[in-house]
Amino acid sequence: MLEKIRETADFLKSRLNDSPTIGMITGTGLGALTERISADFRLPYEEIPNFPSSTVEGHKGMLAAGKLAGKSLIAMEGRFHLYEGYSPQEVTFPVRVMAELGIKYLLMSSAAGGLNPQFERGDFMIMTDHINLKGVNPLRGPNLGESAPRFPDMTQVYSPDLVRIAKEKAIELGVLIRQGVYVGVLGPSLETPAETRFLRMIGADAVGMSTVSQAIVGVHCGLEILAIVVITNLNLPDCMGKTSIEDVIDVSRQAGPVLSDLWERIIGNLPDI
Ligand code: HPA
Repeated sequence: MLEKIRETADFLKSRLNDSPTIGMITGTGLGALTERISADFRLPYEEIPNFPSSTVEGHKGMLAAGKLAGKSLIAMEGRFHLYEGYSPQEVTFPVRVMAELGIKYLLMSSAAGGLNPQFERGDFMIMTDHINLKGVNPLRGPNLGESAPRFPDMTQVYSPDLVRIAKEKAIELGVLIRQGVYVGVLGPSLETPAETRFLRMIGADAVGMSTVSQAIVGVHCGLEILAIVVITNLNLPDCMGKTSIEDVIDVSRQAGPVLSDLWERIIGNLPDI
């Protein structure tokens, strides 16, 4: 595994002008964001050694690296999910590669269902914490890396400093921003009303099928993490509406330009570390 990580990182390094300090992962319908990068390269996942290839509708499967808001970053358009059949190690492989390239920040955006009854479709939510209900942990198995902790502390997965910057930038742009707890489920089936009630009861504000595994590995690699989700549908157990992937992609796409403005401003204001 470590050899594969290094091999992929070396392949990418030879194509980079600068070493990126920021790694970004965007999901369903949020490719608009990475189109703004003035890129050193844009590579389909198939062309990157050891990379799995993305199978989901709305996910382009491209890795781009270059400049955005004056910062060097590397960004994945489209991520891998456990529900596609990938192992937890495959799903989080790109995070390890980006960490090997030297990133300090891991920024993530994805779609999520709203559980907090105050939320509305199209809202943005900064993740302040998560619950891993995927039934697996991506750190299971031999501990990767000489200095990485076997039992990483998880009391502050999402950087409070980055949450503060995100809130400030949202206010500057006049964008309503929520914050809350995200619960990561395996999927791909959506939640029943009973499951939805349970997820709300255990303290989650939003539910989705991504982000959590990558965040755990991000902590393991010592990265500063910020995640913002788009609430694409509302899951209220007593009045469940049907949710379709088309709706999820549609709401994500509509949110794309504003979310891109927000990310660009956040990225431009990240302290150099
Ligand atoms: N449930 C799980 N994942 C999701 C949802 C949802 O309602 N919406 C977008 N991703």
